[in-house]
Amino acid sequence: MGYRYSDDGIIVVRLSIEIYAESLLFLQLNLIMSSLQLTNIGQLVSYNSKISGMETLEKIQIAIDDGIITEIGNKVNDADRHIDCKGKLITPGFVDSHTHPVFLNGREDEFAMRLKGTTYKEIATKGGGIINSVNDVRNASQRELFDRVFSRMNRFLSVGTTTIECKSGYGLNTESEIKSLKVIDEVNNSHKIDMVATFMGAHAIPVEFIDDPDEYVKLICDEMLPAVARQGIAKFNDVFCENGYFNIEQARMILSEGANKGLVPRLHAEEFENSGSAELAAELGAVSADHLMNVNDVGIEAIAEAGVIATLLPGTTFFLGSSNYAPYKRLENAGVNIALATDYNPGSCYIHSMPFIIALACIFMKMDVMSALKAATFMSAKSLQLEDKIGSIEVGKQADMVIWDLERIVQIPYNVSNHPIRNVIKSGELIF
Ligand code: NIG
Ligand code: FE
Repeated sequence: MGYRYSDDGIIVVRLSIEIYAESLLFLQLNLIMSSLQLTNIGQLVSYNSKISGMETLEKIQIAIDDGIITEIGNKVNDADRHIDCKGKLITPGFVDSHTHPVFLNGREDEFAMRLKGTTYKEIATKGGGIINSVNDVRNASQRELFDRVFSRMNRFLSVGTTTIECKSGYGLNTESEIKSLKVIDEVNNSHKIDMVATFMGAHAIPVEFIDDPDEYVKLICDEMLPAVARQGIAKFNDVFCENGYFNIEQARMILSEGANKGLVPRLHAEEFENSGSAELAAELGAVSADHLMNVNDVGIEAIAEAGVIATLLPGTTFFLGSSNYAPYKRLENAGVNIALATDYNPGSCYIHSMPFIIALACIFMKMDVMSALKAATFMSAKSLQLEDKIGSIEVGKQADMVIWDLERIVQIPYNVSNHPIRNVIKSGELIF
């Protein structure tokens, strides 16, 4: 048994066990405790279900038992362990409700091509983009993918993300999509972070079906969705509804067939062009329509009426060097619920930090900080249908929170490039 530093700068203990070593390593740091008391909290900022809005409490204490928040008040019961928060800020752990982490290698060569002026879509047309990651994933063993995904989850947790939605979608055949979902499940079972799986066989048309995309849609409906439902890991079904990927009819077919099999629809909508995919999300009662950079007033009206959450991903606009941010103000004025997420993926957005996404939302979409925090916690939990368990600091909820080395929430986006986090608490366990 020796010691080393992992890529993340986290001290890990090297065990001589070969299998899934990295998974055991990260957990060594957790201080497992049955009850915990947080005192001397300067400010607690969180969604409050009783008032249906954000709330700031000052000079407050929190009691946690068995991973659940049991008390919030001026003086709570003593516990086995105690953390003095030294007058600092506490927020809920972040919920990242849109990521694509099951890939093998980064695609930095495409990033370099974009710096020379080639667009994301042009790269995809030349066989790069999502398809570039597919060969890797098809050839990778489950173990190789496990290791990559596991160490990515360390990074997410270290910047305060306590629950994360993870999509498959770089396998694009039954075997490799099932393998990707299995990897998500295995990492979820061995890592402190909570992962929620989404099947995204409809991420791109694989090369073998390029001349007959409808045949691939048929494969998704007749073979993949039944296999995914039998496997029982995925909760959601997502489609990249976009010119050059899946059209409205194809997306409708895939999401309806998935819903028949118990998979809740969510949708990549209006990312590069307006196609009416927001209206489709409304028609199908999707839980979320994501991206929406090119949504028009008809689409906004439709999702407002249907109660579809708009998951905005400003990291993608930023990473692609575009200035076309989603129309936050118009969505907000129409009464649409807004969530924020990273869209972490190897192509269009290699960003894993929710605090950075909050900064982008504030700076470029003019979101006020309180709304951005709500969107990155409670609303993203709602888009995963988990708002009764996570997304806010309330009695009865899972104790997922961030203790900052900051006093005020405006300091979160103000510290654009560093995240002064003192502790992450996940299900009542101290991670750092
Ligand atoms: O959300 N839009 C579709 N999928 C990703 C891109 C994935 C990739 O390029 O690998 C996205 O932007
Ligand atoms: Fe995406």
